[in-house]
Amino acid sequence: MLDFYSQFNPSPLSIKQFIDFGLNACERKSYLFLRKELPVRLANIMKEIALLPDNLLRMPSLGLVNQWYERSFEEIIEFEKKEPEPPVLSQFCERLVHIRNRHADVVQTMAQGVLELKESHEVDPGIENSIQYFLDRFYMSRISIRMLINQHTLLFGDQLGSRQASVNGMGNGGRHIGSIDPACDVAAVVRDAFENARFLCDRYYLASPELELMQDGRPSDQPMPIVYVPSHLYHMLFELFKNSMRAVMESHENTPPPIQVNLIRGREDVSVKISDRGGGISRSVSDLLFKYMYSTAPQPSKSDSHNVPLAGYGYGLPISRLYARYFHGDLVLVSCEGFGTDAVIYLKALSNEANELLPIFNRTSSKFYRTAPAAADWSGTVPNVSRNPSRDKPSLSHKA
Ligand SMILES: Nc1ncnc2c1ncn2[C@@H]1O[C@H](COP(=O)(O)OP(=O)(O)OP(=O)(O)O)[C@@H](O)[C@H]1O
Ligand SMILES: [Mg+2]
Repeated sequence: MLDFYSQFNPSPLSIKQFIDFGLNACERKSYLFLRKELPVRLANIMKEIALLPDNLLRMPSLGLVNQWYERSFEEIIEFEKKEPEPPVLSQFCERLVHIRNRHADVVQTMAQGVLELKESHEVDPGIENSIQYFLDRFYMSRISIRMLINQHTLLFGDQLGSRQASVNGMGNGGRHIGSIDPACDVAAVVRDAFENARFLCDRYYLASPELELMQDGRPSDQPMPIVYVPSHLYHMLFELFKNSMRAVMESHENTPPPIQVNLIRGREDVSVKISDRGGGISRSVSDLLFKYMYSTAPQPSKSDSHNVPLAGYGYGLPISRLYARYFHGDLVLVSCEGFGTDAVIYLKALSNEANELLPIFNRTSSKFYRTAPAAADWSGTVPNVSRNPSRDKPSLSHKA
């Protein structure tokens, strides 16, 4: 079955399609789409797990993640031939919630597996490159699968926030379509993420910088609406604020300078620029920022897991960039060592251009796991690991 489903390309959806589907489609239609699309997305990434270097696959945490994926794949293809009758539909919804819970700790467990490998000192640059390539694709696939599950369960499940609850004026404010807010106020999410990062910062340093919020370069407290998934935006901002606060506090003992956030709406992009005066990052290090195996913070102790650390695993930036790229945005850092860092989140301004970016498994994927890293070439561009090498497979047809 894995072979069968991995032959198909995942079908990327745009935010606009998610919204149209959420407003117009019935549960039956969503069920028929997901019972094919979820196994396709799972199978595509499971085929890639199998290509990982043997010494990583042998790590106990990897075994656990593999088992979760296998179990979930099996549980979904059980619905392959089940007619969309009401009992089946509610069974499917419950199953999805169950799967989402099962996979809640995938990021940490996978990170643990990589740490186990690192501690075994079996990491050479070739392996490190394949792991980086894989993790970008693996975590992106996970973001996309969770997006699909969240949309279905929020719209058709019996939680508050379901379409029925929204219609009745209950749930999440009535305007949300699943996890998408058609009038997501970027300014409000900035303030929220800043306050929460500040709370952690105050706890560690007993002080914290102020926020200076601007729009188009001028101080502003106006809303800036965009069609987006607020939880994704929050994730990116929270990570960037934690990083900026740590840098600012480490480089200023007294009176930390404020962190500036500038919101700019262009025709194609909405940009959120975060500028700190935290001393910046040297160019020799800036290449490492988006590496899963890089952090300058001491690793949080395992016994301290109930305390949220301000920094520690080195996953903040790479995962945030995946959230930005997932709907064809981006996240970049520009730094001046000795002064400070600018981080920019780019989001697509138009929801019909905000298409999912999905990893696709195909014959060429495997070569990324076998070839040695290319020698440094000063004139070349770094291959973009989250883009798809080619699109040579048919897509499963569906009516979404
Ligand atoms: N604004 C910044 N100023 C200076 N250094 C930064 C800034 N942002 C990131 N860095 C550096 O980049 C490293 C990687 O950041 P990243 O957020 O990915 O991981 P982390 O903060 O170490 O751990 P966590 O996974 O908890 O976020 C940091 O350890 C820090 O050295
Ligand atoms: Mg961080």
